[in-house]
Amino acid sequence: MARDKIALIGSGQIGGTLAHLIGLKELGDVVMFDIAEGIPQGKSLDIAQSSPVDGFDAKLTGANSYEALEGARVCIVTAGIPRKPGMSRDDLLSINLKVMEQVGAGIKKYAPDAFVICITNPLDAMVWALQKASGMPAKKVVGMAGVLDSSRFRYFLADEFDVSVEDVTAFVLGGHGDSMVPLVKYSTVAGIPLPDLVKMGWTSQARIDEIVDRTRNGGAEIVNLLKTGSAFYAPAASAIAMAESYLRDKKRVLPCAAYLNGEFGVKDMYVGVPVVIGARGVERIVEIELAGKDREAFDKSVGAVQGLIDACKKIAPDLL
Ligand code: APR
Repeated sequence: MARDKIALIGSGQIGGTLAHLIGLKELGDVVMFDIAEGIPQGKSLDIAQSSPVDGFDAKLTGANSYEALEGARVCIVTAGIPRKPGMSRDDLLSINLKVMEQVGAGIKKYAPDAFVICITNPLDAMVWALQKASGMPAKKVVGMAGVLDSSRFRYFLADEFDVSVEDVTAFVLGGHGDSMVPLVKYSTVAGIPLPDLVKMGWTSQARIDEIVDRTRNGGAEIVNLLKTGSAFYAPAASAIAMAESYLRDKKRVLPCAAYLNGEFGVKDMYVGVPVVIGARGVERIVEIELAGKDREAFDKSVGAVQGLIDACKKIAPDLL
């Protein structure tokens, strides 16, 4: 069987990490695309030269023209500019919206059957714009945010309890950003919900609140430390988990920015919810019941995403 082809649109920090991970995991051949000349060619050659040492077989190439996307089964989009210190994800909106319009047109022309994973921020608005610009089925276009947010939450919880990250599950909903909604009662250590662990004396509610807060600001914490860009290792690993679930039809249940058409009472928007990802793309949206404070927080988060989408519609009315 021929190897799958994976196209990376954007060959910056995340793009380079994605290419390396795809090689190490032998997920397929990689084409790196970017508007910057030499960067995708140089990075793909560098990674290809590591393949004899690490023992993986993959063809890695770089390109500056969209034709290179032809035949890709998965496209992962990181094209755009990342956040700088002091800049919110929303500040990125108008610049990255134009990029999504170009990228959407390129994917539509050369890889209309691909599964598309968007990482560019502000995520929920950018994946919405990308789907509109590409005209592709909504279940084939998803945004990567929840896997990263829940991975950060899991990491902090594992550290708090001094247990393996593998045994911690976390559940986050809503938009990517300060309004994300970590659902504490559905987050567990080996199946034991966090509220029970508080009762068992493993931690306190105050500590859980601090960890939730740190998770919400997880991206900003890294931006402030790096000073020259935003996180890239964990975002790349998260998108790879989504791509793998699609390519191997694993049907993993992952929190992703998915197109909602009435689910959770939301219409024509991308918001972070748990979904099943398999060979058909987003195969199912896991619609849990939300009440009380959780519903309130979710609605607030949806409101924040709606604000960004409205701003996109103003800038690019033709996208509708
Ligand atoms: N088409 C293709 N590539 C583009 C375009 C475009 N129109 N505009 C910019 N790029 C490329 C840049 O040349 C750069 O190589 O996108 C790449 C972005 O890489 P980085 O600046 O290193 O950003 P990165 O850290 O990879 O983050 C990418 O993901 O998490 C989000 O907020 C983050 O929006 C940002 C994106």
